[in-house]
Amino acid sequence: MTLETVGDIESLRARVRQWRAAGERIGFVPTMGNLHAGHLALVDQARSLADRVVASVFVNPLQFGPGEDYETYPRTLDQDREALAARQADLLFAPPVAVMFPKGRGATTFVEVPGLGQELCGAFRPGFFRGVATVVARLFNLVQPDLAVFGEKDYQQLILVRRMVEDLAFPVEIVGVPTVREPDGLAMSSRNAYLAPDERTRAPLLYRTLREVVRRLEAGENDYAALEADAVETLKAAGFRPDYVAVRRAGDLAPPEPGTRELRVLGAAWLGRARLIDNLPAVR
Ligand code: PAF
Repeated sequence: MTLETVGDIESLRARVRQWRAAGERIGFVPTMGNLHAGHLALVDQARSLADRVVASVFVNPLQFGPGEDYETYPRTLDQDREALAARQADLLFAPPVAVMFPKGRGATTFVEVPGLGQELCGAFRPGFFRGVATVVARLFNLVQPDLAVFGEKDYQQLILVRRMVEDLAFPVEIVGVPTVREPDGLAMSSRNAYLAPDERTRAPLLYRTLREVVRRLEAGENDYAALEADAVETLKAAGFRPDYVAVRRAGDLAPPEPGTRELRVLGAAWLGRARLIDNLPAVR
């Protein structure tokens, strides 16, 4: 099965315009490719909510900092196209950098979500969320979807995109999809491929550690700083290099009050060459 693939704006817009004229609802799944079951769950969700599904594959240089893995990030377009075709996507948009950022990566107008964009992962990866917000805004303007689907694995990204859509009045519904995990609990991620075999064995500890924080929160513990510090210690003792473990309000990722009922526990930690992130809900 072949999937129609376009890399230029005119062809993308012509196809989407045709569907719109027929009254069809467009669902969009933005990705950086190297698709795994987590991405394909996003496609399935879009498929169930929309008449047409557009997926994009674009490794966005704006969201990689100096010394990060932009050059080596896995690029597997042919495999991705087959996987998307098998899940009945209708169109793949795979533009070159020059189409996405014709003036160059340093010269484009950018979108910055204040506060949220500089916290948690944003504090450890300066410029990351500016890069994400900028590329997602441009993709939304190019595809003009009715809805767009994002994974909860990147929970801060999901909340940030919701904020951007609200602040800039994009007419796009943002749909979140639960994290897809390996049988041992590790959240699926393209970067799991960077784990050496012994690191891969230890990696699910991030998930288990966050689960323990959830257990203690749901048992009524309220000392968030102590819970975070214990989790960081557990990870360090197992050879991780944690960036943070944080308990936040689920809806907006603001610091919670003692009585906040809907929480999100988030963590990011390095293991060897891989920076792993994960998060879980806690409801009291
Ligand atoms: O989640 C991702 O893969 C990327 O951050 C996204 C949303 C495709 C933007 O480049």
